[in-house]
Amino acid sequence: MADIELYPTKKSLQGEMVVPGDKSISHRSVIFASLAEGTSHIRNFLTGEDCLRTVEAFRLMGVHIDQHGSDLAIHGRGIAHLKEPVSPIYFGNSGTTARLMSGVLAGLPLFTTAFGDESLSKRPMDRVVIPLKKMGAEISGRDHDSLLPLSFKGKKLKGDIHELKVKSAQVKSALLLAGMLAEGETKVIEMGETRNHTEMLLPEFGVEVNVEGRMVTIKGGQQPSGADLKVPGDISSAAFFIVASSITPGSEMIIRDVGLNPTRDGVIRAMERMGADISTHIHTYIGQEPVGDIHIRAGSLRGVTLEGDLIPNVIDEIPILALAATQAEGTTVIKDAEELRHKETDRIHAVVQTLTALGAKVEALKDGMVIHGKTELTGGSIHSYGDHRIGMMGAVASLICQNPVTILDKDCISISYPSFFQHLNEALK
Ligand code: S3P
Repeated sequence: MADIELYPTKKSLQGEMVVPGDKSISHRSVIFASLAEGTSHIRNFLTGEDCLRTVEAFRLMGVHIDQHGSDLAIHGRGIAHLKEPVSPIYFGNSGTTARLMSGVLAGLPLFTTAFGDESLSKRPMDRVVIPLKKMGAEISGRDHDSLLPLSFKGKKLKGDIHELKVKSAQVKSALLLAGMLAEGETKVIEMGETRNHTEMLLPEFGVEVNVEGRMVTIKGGQQPSGADLKVPGDISSAAFFIVASSITPGSEMIIRDVGLNPTRDGVIRAMERMGADISTHIHTYIGQEPVGDIHIRAGSLRGVTLEGDLIPNVIDEIPILALAATQAEGTTVIKDAEELRHKETDRIHAVVQTLTALGAKVEALKDGMVIHGKTELTGGSIHSYGDHRIGMMGAVASLICQNPVTILDKDCISISYPSFFQHLNEALK
C-alpha cells in the first residue's frame, strides 16, 4: 500500500491528451466477445485492474484472449463452448464484473463460484440475485445470498419482465445478458435513465435489442458473433482533467477522443451549469457511441444543485464535481445520490472526510452533500479509502492546495486509470 506526497506547484495544465479506454465499454466488449462465435479485436481496451478481472474470468472459462498492450484479440468459440472453471473466479474490486458476470454465470450450464476483495465483498449483490432468481437462477451466497462469495448452479433461465428498483446500469445489463441466454423474451423496465452501453454495443456483436423509452427487450437464445471495435476514451477518467483544468488558474486543455454518450456526459453539463469554460466537438461514432474532443479552460465557477435524473449520469463523477464545488462561489447541493453509499467505498462519507481534511466546508446528507464555496484548500494527509476515484480527487485537489497533500494508499488508482500520475505530470507545465 504505497503513499504519495504531492507538493504545491505554480504550474497549470496545458496541451492535449488522451485518456484510457472507457471502463464500462471495456468490460462489455470482453464479455460480448467471449460469448461470441469468431475472433474479436478490441483496441484501446482499458488495462486497469477491474477490466482485467473480466478478462481473467473468461480465460478461466477456456476463452483464448491475447493481449498486446491495450489491444485484445478474443477468440470466442460461442456460448456452448465455454468451460466450467475448475477454481473460483476472482472479481477483485470490480462491481461491474461481479454484477454483469452474475447474469452470465446464472444462465450458463456450469457450476461456478466467485469472490471479491474486501470492498466488493461488502457491496450488495441481491440487486442482481433477486431478479435472476425470478428467472429460475440457482445462486447462493452469504447473508441470504446477497453478498459475495456467490455460487451459481447455472442453467437455462426463463425470460421475464423486470421492473427495476434501483437506477443501475449494472443490474440492467446483468438481466439483459441473462435474458440473451434464456428461453423466451426478457424485458427490463428502468426507473430512470442509466448508461446504455449494453444496448448500444450488443448490436455490434449481432445481437438484437429493442429499446422503447425506458423498456429494453431482448430475445433469448441469441448467439453473438465476433466484432472489431475501438473503445473510446473514458469520460469518467477525463472528468479528473476537466475539473483540474477548470480550477487550476491559467490552464487550457484539449482531451481528445472521449466517449460522449448522452447517458454519460452529465459531467460536461454539470460543469457548464457551474459556469465552466468548456466545449465539446463530436467527430466520430464507434458503432452508435459518439466520440469527440473536450476543450476546457480555467475560469470561475458558481454553486449549483445536482439532483434527480442527472445523478445516475454523473454517479462516478460526483467526487470530482464535489471538489470543483469547493472552488465555486456559493453553495452546491448534491442530492438523490444515495447510491454513492454502495460504491467502492461509501463515497458520501469518503468525499466529505477527504475534502474537510483538506480545508473545505462540506456537510454530508443522507443522499448527498452540501458544499460551501469558495474555500482555499490547505492540504494535509488523506486516505484513498482504497477507492480509485477518491485517490484521484485528492491528487487533483493537491494542485490548488497551499501545503503538500499526502495520499495514503494511492495504488488503487490503477483500478481504472493506471497511467493517471504520468498523464498529470505530462499535462502540468
Ligand atoms: C457501471 C455502472 C455504474 C457505475 C460503474 C460502472 C457500468 O454502476 O457506477 O462504475 O459499467 O454499468 P451502477 O450501475 O451500479 O450504478
